[in-house]
Amino acid sequence: MHFSKRLDRLGDEIFAALNERKLSLEREGRRIYNMSIGTPDFITPEHIRRALTESAADPESWKYSLRDLPETLEAVAGYYQRRYQVRVRPDQIMSCYGTQEGVGHLCMALCDEGDTVLLPDPCYPVFKAGVLLSGAEPAWYPLDKAHGFLPCVEEIPEETARKAKMIIVSLPANPVGSVAQKDTYRRLVDWARKYQVLVVHDNAYSDILFEGGPGGSFLKEEGAMDVGVEFFSLSKSFNVTGARISFLLGRKDVVDAVRKLRTQIDFGMFIPIQRAAAAALNGPLETVRDQCERYRRRRDALCGGARRIGWNIPDSKGSMFVWAPLPEGYTHSMAFCMDLMEQASVLCTPGVSFGPHGEGYVRFALVLPEEEIEKALESVRESGILSRREGD
Ligand SMILES: Cc1ncc(COP(=O)(O)O)c(C=O)c1O
Repeated sequence: MHFSKRLDRLGDEIFAALNERKLSLEREGRRIYNMSIGTPDFITPEHIRRALTESAADPESWKYSLRDLPETLEAVAGYYQRRYQVRVRPDQIMSCYGTQEGVGHLCMALCDEGDTVLLPDPCYPVFKAGVLLSGAEPAWYPLDKAHGFLPCVEEIPEETARKAKMIIVSLPANPVGSVAQKDTYRRLVDWARKYQVLVVHDNAYSDILFEGGPGGSFLKEEGAMDVGVEFFSLSKSFNVTGARISFLLGRKDVVDAVRKLRTQIDFGMFIPIQRAAAAALNGPLETVRDQCERYRRRRDALCGGARRIGWNIPDSKGSMFVWAPLPEGYTHSMAFCMDLMEQASVLCTPGVSFGPHGEGYVRFALVLPEEEIEKALESVRESGILSRREGD
C-alpha cells in the first residue's frame, strides 16, 4: 500500500540503535542511568488527581464535552492574570491535547505548501514535524553558543524574514536550557511587526528557572497579542504529562482558525481532565515552586559535578535540561552517547537529533534525584571516557 506522501517527509527514528542497545544491556542486568527523556519523576499534586477522580465518578462526565467548559477557560484566564499579569479573554483561549498535538494542528490550520516557517536549530522535534506535515518548509535560525543560545531575529536574512509566515520560539529552551533576556520578547515583537510574521511561543518551562524568576509569558510584551499566540502546557509545571493538557492563547483569529480545524476532528477534552486542569490552575502553587528548587539542585549536581571530574558543562539557566558540549576528543554526539552508555551506563540524547546546530552536544534531562546523578557521574569518571578518543 502507498501511504501518504506526508509521512515520507518525516525522517527515521535516529536513536533506534541507542534504544535497542539500552534494552539489551538491561537484559544483561546492567543498570542504566537514564537521563535521555524529559518525563518528570515528580508526582502529580494530590488536589489535581482528586479533581480528576471526583469528576470521573460522575456519569455525566463521560459524555462528549464538545467544547471547553467556561470554568476551564476562566481558570486559564485567571491564572494568566495572576501569574503573568496578562489579560486574556476566554474567547482567545482553546484547549489542546498537549502542546505536541497543538503544534501539529496549528501548523495544519495555518500553513500550506510553499509557506516558510522559521524554527530554532536545535529545536524540540515536533516543531519540525508539524511544519513538514503541513507541507510548509522549515527555515532555521541558530540557537548557538555565539548567540548565548538565544534567538537573534535581527540576523535572520532579509529575504527569509520577508517570506516567513510564522516563527516558532520557545524559552526556556529545550534542549539548550537558555532563558529569555529582558529585551528578547521586545525585539521579537518589533521584528514580527516589521516583517508581518506570526510568532508562536511555546511556554512549557516558565516555572523552571534557575537564576531568578519566576518566568514569564511572551504575551505580556506590549503588542504581543497582535502578532502572536502562546502554547501553555501544564505537563511539566504540574507533572501531568500523561493527561495531555495544554492551551493555545493569544491572537483571536489564529485561535479561531486552529479551533475550526480541531472541531472537525475532535469532540473536546474529557471533562475530568478539564476539571483537573482547573484544579491545577486555581490551586496552590507551592509544589511548583518547590519543584523548581529541586530541579535547580539536580542542575547543580550534574553541571557542577561534571566540572569537578573534568567535563566542562556550563550551568543550564532553565528548563529541565542540560546542554553539554562533548568532551574533548569527541565530535559526533551519536557516537559519544553510545560510548557513554556502553562504558559508563549513562544514557543521554545526541544533540544532532535536535538539528544540525545540535551536533557537538548532548542533552541530559534532569529526571534523576541528586544521589543518582552523583552515582552516574562517578560511573563516568571511573570509565575514563573523558580522557579517551572517539573510536578508541
Ligand atoms: C519545548 C517543549 N514544548 C512542549 C513539550 C510538550 O508539552 P505537552 O506535554 O503539552 O505536549 C515539551 C516536552 O518535553 C517541550 O520540551
